[in-house]
Amino acid sequence: MDWLFRSGKIGNLELKNRFVRSATGECLAAADGQVTDALVSLYTDLAKGGVGLIITGVTFVHESGRSGYKMPGLHRDEMIPGWQRLVSQVHAYGAKIAPQLFHCGRQMQSDSAQAFPPMAPSPIAYKRSGITPREMTEEQIWEMIGAFAEAARRAGEAGFDGVQLHGAHGYLISQFLSPYSNRRTDRWGGNFENRQRFVREVYQRIRGVVGQDYPVFIKMNVDDFVEGGLTLEETRETAKRLSDLGMDAIEISGGMLELTIWKCMVPGIKSTEQEAYFLPYAEAIKSEIHCPLILVGGMRTPARMEEILRQNKADFISLCRPFIREPDLVNKIQQGQQESVTCISCNKCMRLLDKGLACYVDA
Ligand SMILES: Cc1cc2nc3c(=O)[nH]c(=O)nc-3n(C[C@H](O)[C@H](O)[C@H](O)COP(=O)(O)O)c2cc1C
Repeated sequence: MDWLFRSGKIGNLELKNRFVRSATGECLAAADGQVTDALVSLYTDLAKGGVGLIITGVTFVHESGRSGYKMPGLHRDEMIPGWQRLVSQVHAYGAKIAPQLFHCGRQMQSDSAQAFPPMAPSPIAYKRSGITPREMTEEQIWEMIGAFAEAARRAGEAGFDGVQLHGAHGYLISQFLSPYSNRRTDRWGGNFENRQRFVREVYQRIRGVVGQDYPVFIKMNVDDFVEGGLTLEETRETAKRLSDLGMDAIEISGGMLELTIWKCMVPGIKSTEQEAYFLPYAEAIKSEIHCPLILVGGMRTPARMEEILRQNKADFISLCRPFIREPDLVNKIQQGQQESVTCISCNKCMRLLDKGLACYVDA
């Protein structure tokens, strides 16, 4: 397992191995978005378990962007001390950590919608709640761009090693990128250039605040898997442009929470053939970008992960569900204890997420 345990770099960030814990919503924060002991303990266990880089679960950047309760926030300065405590624990065990900066846009659970009516690029009803979001005004768009930048500043102050923008799965950034959810006719919508404007402005505003050296990366959809949504033809070009802009790494994913989230977390992975279901997309995108590519999606055997790195099809291997069951997975692989992860991709962790992140396979 030589390649998996080579050190790697994302921008200036040195990582001890090629394992990334992909962003995983926890539903373990306090009602006001503060970090709790349960969150600290979750991330400490992951850090102890040997993973090089941890991406936190969705972390809202503005009160209007929280999609449900028990989600942590970086929306106010009062959040910084709680995160500092968590980050210092992670660092004590040699792992690096970045928050996933998030705004839900139209994909808001109905319980949150009572406190904050959802807003989105276009007023298209969200099928899971039946609620139609307000179309964002120019002023609101700039306010949210500013909120992402302020959250990134707070992340830096809390000691995080970088930030990841959540540009996938049909949330706000992805809503602007996708013609499925962005039907605007002003400079924020319509053609390819205009739909890209929001993410580019977010990125540039963040850079203005955190400087050139702070790692900023993104998780983005390679395909929305919905009619009228994004496909590889366009996302390949988006990835190229984001890399040209200075993004330090790109993690590729796909699907939208509203309709096609099982494309993102494919259930029942049992064979090597089913592993790495975004690999064909990675192959199409890798040659277009000059920053590292982080591959997520259904990787289950160290041998397959190693092969992907050796063949230079990805630079980092990102896992979500396997770490829910086995936070110490990387140490076990390093000690040669495992030919496969024990996660069976049943997705109970997702269905029962409201109870708090855990593996519910034996429950
Ligand atoms: C319980 C659960 C929570 C998730 N939360 C997030 C999240 O907060 N942000 C995100 O980008 N993806 C999230 N995902 C998707 C994962 O990061 C990952 O892309 C997907 O599960 C495929 O990887 P895997 O096969 O290793 O699980 C979540 C998935 C699960 C199962």
